[in-house]
This record gives sequence, C-alpha cells and structure tokens, in this order.
Amino acid sequence: MNGHPKILIAGGTGLVGSRLIQMLHQKGYVVNILTRSPKGRENHFAWDIKSKTINVKAFDQVKHVINLAGAGIADKLWTKARKKLIIDSRVQSNLLLIEKIERHKVPISSYTSASAVGIYGDQGDQWLTENHVGNPEDFMVDTCIKWENTLNHPALNSIRKVRIRIGLVLAKHGGVMPKLLTSFHAGFGSYFGNGKQYYPWIHIDDLCRIFIKAIEDDSLQGAYNGVAPNPHTNKDLIKGIGEQLGKKWMVPVPSLALKAGMGEMSSVVLNSHRVSADKIISAGFDFQFADLSSALKDLL
Ligand SMILES: NC(=O)c1ccc[n+]([C@@H]2O[C@H](COP(=O)([O-])OP(=O)(O)OC[C@H]3O[C@@H](n4cnc5c(N)ncnc54)[C@H](OP(=O)(O)O)[C@@H]3O)[C@@H](O)[C@H]2O)c1
Repeated sequence: MNGHPKILIAGGTGLVGSRLIQMLHQKGYVVNILTRSPKGRENHFAWDIKSKTINVKAFDQVKHVINLAGAGIADKLWTKARKKLIIDSRVQSNLLLIEKIERHKVPISSYTSASAVGIYGDQGDQWLTENHVGNPEDFMVDTCIKWENTLNHPALNSIRKVRIRIGLVLAKHGGVMPKLLTSFHAGFGSYFGNGKQYYPWIHIDDLCRIFIKAIEDDSLQGAYNGVAPNPHTNKDLIKGIGEQLGKKWMVPVPSLALKAGMGEMSSVVLNSHRVSADKIISAGFDFQFADLSSALKDLL
C-alpha cells in the first residue's frame, strides 16, 4: 500500500461512486468497491444484502468506509415493494457493513454514509440547516431518518461517523441532468408545478470533494448538507440550463399531471428544499462551483 489509507466504497459503481473513485485514484488512494456484480473486475468485491453476505477480502487493510448503495429513488413508481427496496437497500446495507466490520474487527477510522436532503420534507422557502427535522409521515423523511439512524449502532461507538445529506447531483452524464434536458431536445425547457420549489443542486465534483474531506478531515463528524451554497428554484434552474443552451422557452408541467403520472413519487420533483451549505463551509470546505452558472457552464 502507498502512503494513503485504503478506502472501501459500497455502491461505488453508480453516478457518485464512479466519479469519487476517479478523484480518489488521482490523489493516490487505493479503493475497494462492493457491488452486486463484481464480474472479476479488479478491486471489486461481491456482497448481497438479502443473504447478508460480503466477500470479506473487501475489508483487507481498509481504513475508511463509504456507503453509497441504494435503489434509485425515482426510477420506478413507489409501490409497497419498491418502497421496501428503497429503504432496505440503504438501511440493511449500512447494517450489514457495520455488523461485518464488528465481526471481523476491521480497524476503520471513519464511516461515511450517503443520506439525502429528502430528510427535511417539503419546507417551502424556509432555510434548512442540519438541525431541521422533517415529518416522518413523508416517505423520504422516514427513509432518510431510518438510513441515518443505522449509524447509531453500538459497533460504531468509537468510530468517526459522517452523514452527507446529498442534494440534486448535477453531472455531465447520468443522474438528473439527462432528464432535465429531455424537453430541451424538443426546443423548450419544462418546469414542474409552479416551479417555485427550491432544488438544492450540487456539482458532482464538489460533492465528491465533500466525501473526500469526510475521509481526510478528522474534525468532520455528524450530518452535513451536500449542497451548493446557492439553491435555486426549479424554474430558475431550468431557466439557467436554457440560457446555457440558448433556448429561452419554458413550459410548466402541471402538478396535477405529475401527481396523476407519478403518484406519491411526484414529491421528488415538487417538494421544496432550501438547504443551507453553511455547516460544511464553516468546516473549511471551499466550493469550486458555488454558483449555478459556473456549474452549468462546466457541465453543458
Ligand atoms: N444522485 C443524486 O442526485 C442523489 C441525491 C440524493 C441522494 N443520493 C444518494 O447518494 C447515493 C449515491 O447516489 P448515486 O446517484 O451514485 O446512485 P446510483 O448511481 O443509483 O448508484 C447507487 C449504487 O447502489 C447500488 N445499488 C442499487 N440498488 C441496490 C440494491 N437493491 N442493493 C444494493 N445495492 C444497490 C448499485 O451498485 P451495484 O449495482 O454495483 O450493486 C449502484 O451503483 C445513493 O444512496 C442515493 O440515494 C443521490
């Protein structure tokens, strides 16, 4: 091993994980990845949440664990079975990792779990800090609370724990961006409902740098919002994308239509989260893309 501690990233094959691993490699870290499909790829190890199994070689010399695993929130309609999968893939994945770390006495220094700004629920224009508590009757609030509570497991008592409450991740390829761009291919931007709901966006590279800070900075502990300092309304976000693309027409998609088509899952696009980045900034984090126009210029 080189001078850098080894990192294990569960769910590291997705949007955030792939970029995070690239950035960690650039810094000289060695990264192991837990995935359901290792397919013989180097440093990829198998795990299975249902059968509660992990290839324990994944833990070899690991000092920091990051869990990014989770079934897509907005990939499929929220049936009872889908909701269970959304919760289980987050809660049971953390619990499985923690139980195996305890059983195999893996001497880790930190454990970082993804979480989401969905933990705050629909809060209109109110600024949301990490102290805000949403109403657990909201499915995403309930999911995120259960997800984060797994880190209270006694096996992690003496380990530094960080929870990153991720906002809307803007990336060149994948995530929400291709969906936001769909209507622009037809010549116009579409916003949802009245478009006044706040979207706490973040450039993927800034988010990955927050995860790296969570590994490297021993002072980080507890929950941090993983969002840029300037959240925009849905309408302003679409307007900003339109400006980059030279397309100014915008058409609303009525909330009634969204609710009819998406059911309860429409809350993902209609809920408002005006989330503060103050805590991570106070911890010394410097955003490379603090304003939307610089992020969109880089990504589009
Ligand atoms: N992207 C965003 O805008 C955003 C916003 C808020 C929160 N987050 C959270 O941040 C984390 C990472 O986001 P992402 O965008 O990188 O997600 P992603 O691209 O969907 O990747 C998540 C990873 O989780 C694993 N996974 C999916 N379903 C699973 C299941 N049923 N059991 C075990 N593992 C499963 C997959 O790995 P394998 O297929 O290799 O097993 C996948 O690569 C997620 O927990 C997500 O909820 C993301």
